[in-house]
Formats: sequence, structure tokens, C-alpha cells
Amino acid sequence: LIRQTGIHVAIIMDGNGRWAQSRGLPRHAGHRAGAAAVRRVVEDAPTLGISTLSLFAFSSDNWKRPAPEVNTLMHLLERFLRTEVATCVEKGVRIEIIGRRDRLSERLANAMDAAERSTACGTVLRLRIAVDYSSRDAIVQAASCGATSREELEKNLPQSCLNVDLLVRTGGEKRLSDFLLWESAYAELYFTDVRWPDFDGDALRAAVNEFALRQRRFGALPGDARPARVAS
Ligand code: FPP
Repeated sequence: LIRQTGIHVAIIMDGNGRWAQSRGLPRHAGHRAGAAAVRRVVEDAPTLGISTLSLFAFSSDNWKRPAPEVNTLMHLLERFLRTEVATCVEKGVRIEIIGRRDRLSERLANAMDAAERSTACGTVLRLRIAVDYSSRDAIVQAASCGATSREELEKNLPQSCLNVDLLVRTGGEKRLSDFLLWESAYAELYFTDVRWPDFDGDALRAAVNEFALRQRRFGALPGDARPARVAS
């Protein structure tokens, strides 16, 4: 492994449904296995030099899914937040939720507030979970506050704007699906056929290793590369 430090990895966790179907299981079993994969990846991320991990758990377009599936996902999220807080505190994982909260149940919104409050002191890993998130909506909201420069817009983005270093999508599709579009302007993209429930520490290591081999130029010439702006 080529050692990386302080990288921001964003993951589009796709393929839960197909993972379940290929085993003759209902889709919710795939989401349950997906939540277990989240636990594993959160545990392994700091050992791979990842300091920020942004996970796409529920997109604003996912409301179009059948109500029972939406309920399963919301339930899994709430359970994750309630059951993982103690471990996160112990391991120094700071939880932040990005996305809209006004369309979520009060129970889930409360669990989010509580998880953020309890883990606020964590410094090992910043775990950002996107729920009812749409990157276009976030950009429109920031722009509608009257931003006239990139810096102002970045300041106005509803959750802090963090440049993504490596964007991973599992499950074989190759698209961004409205996730962290602004923040991924110079992200390295990594697509894998591995379905999310099968994604583990080794799969994450493979992604980070490939990232380490990519030459990042940010539009400059080789050797003179640095991000134009690193928002924090
Ligand atoms: C995509 O698979 C995955 C989702 C829409 C939800 C991701 C949610 C989890 C991994 C579980 C809960 C999250 C946390 C943070 C505890 P899909 O259903 O689109 O799969 P398919 O394309 O194979 O049908």
C-alpha cells in the first residue's frame, strides 16, 4: 500500500438489491447486508489514511421507490445511528448527516441530532452520511442565498464544502447520480463491479491503492499540481 493521509473518500453504495436478488432474497435483505458493510468500511477507513468518508445512503430521488423499501432504509439508518454511536465515540468517529431533514420522520431527525451531538469530539474520522440528499438542490440553495463568487457559493453550501479526493461507486454502474457534484470537481473516479454488501476492507484498499497511483494535476502541468482552492 502506498500510504495516503487525510484523504476524503465519497462512496455511492450501489448494488444492494441485485446482491439480494442473486441470492433469492428480498431487497431489504440486501439493504441490511449493506448496513453491515457500512460498519466494516467505517472501521477500516482510518487505517487506510482516510480522514473523511462521505456515504450516499438515500438520495432525494430514492423517494420514488416503493414505500416499504423507503421505510426499510429509514429504519436501518435510525438503527445504525442509535446502535453505532457508542462505538463511534470510542473510535473517534464524528458523525455528520448531510441533506434535507424536513421530510424525515421526527424520530430519525432526532436520532441524527443526537448522533451528531454525541460524536462531535471525534477527530479520527469524519463520517458524513447523505440522507435525502441532492447535490443540485444543495447548489441551487447556496446560489439562491445570493452568492456571486465560487468562494461565496462554497460558504453557502448547506453543509461544509469538502473537496472529494476519491469518488467510489460500487455495483457496476458508472454515473454520479447527483452526489457531491460541486465537491467532486477534481475527484478521481473509481468504479467497481463489487456490489455494496460485498464491499470490505480489501475492496476499499484496492480503491485507495489505485487512487495513490493516479497523477493528479488539477489542470496544471505534472509536478506543479495542487488544488486551486481547498475549502474546509
Ligand atoms: C443502492 O442499492 C443502495 C441504496 C439505495 C441504499 C444504501 C443504504 C445502505 C447501504 C444501508 C443503510 C445505510 C447506512 C449508512 C446504515 P440499490 O437498492 O439501488 O441496488 P440495486 O441497484 O442492485 O437495486
